[in-house]
Amino acid sequence: MARLKTGVLISGSGTNLQALLDAAADPAYPAEIVLVISNRADAKGLARAEAAGVETAVIEHGGFAHRASFDAALDEHLRRAGCELVCLAGFMRILTEGFVAGWTDRLINIHPSLLPSFRGLEAQAQALAAGVRIAGCTVHFVRPETDAGPIIVQGAVPVLDGDDADSLSRRILGVEHRIYPLAVRLIGEGRVRVEGERVRIRGANSESGAVLISPPETTS
Ligand code: GRF
Repeated sequence: MARLKTGVLISGSGTNLQALLDAAADPAYPAEIVLVISNRADAKGLARAEAAGVETAVIEHGGFAHRASFDAALDEHLRRAGCELVCLAGFMRILTEGFVAGWTDRLINIHPSLLPSFRGLEAQAQALAAGVRIAGCTVHFVRPETDAGPIIVQGAVPVLDGDDADSLSRRILGVEHRIYPLAVRLIGEGRVRVEGERVRIRGANSESGAVLISPPETTS
């Protein structure tokens, strides 16, 4: 079985990258991580990739005069490594329309909210401020508009009365680490098809794109 050659773009701690590396350590997993690129030399995720024996590159955005030339460098590295899928995992740069267009339906992102609610920064704090009872995370195909695009997998968690942004973020992150490898696996298995704004998952009767974490048991 040919495994889907996957590149991951990071800017920080890279815990989602770690979840993908852990999944891909299983030879039966249908994707392999072939390249990790960070726009920051101090990103902790780089050490995670190196520990897993994955090629890394640091492409600092500050070294480029324009967004387009930075994106062109990203593109060149990804293509040279033979990437067929690109995962954004805490990558804190807005990508140009040209870059996004070059990777249509092969570029995915994880966002810590149940999209289309709470796009943009501090999504968990936005969810708390809105008073929602269910929060979560989304893996979606990337479109030029920020945090928009066909949804592949979502994970839902309860919001508890005592939550602050940190505790809610931690609960959501735990589910992120489940749904990102799930989404990449479904794509690697060739089961994901984009139809307009929606994603269809073949064989979704046995396994869907929804991961639900039950609220803790309450006693009266
Ligand atoms: C995650 O919350 C992800 O949803 C968001 O950025 C964070 C990255 O965390 N896009 P990590 O670097 O994977 O630990």
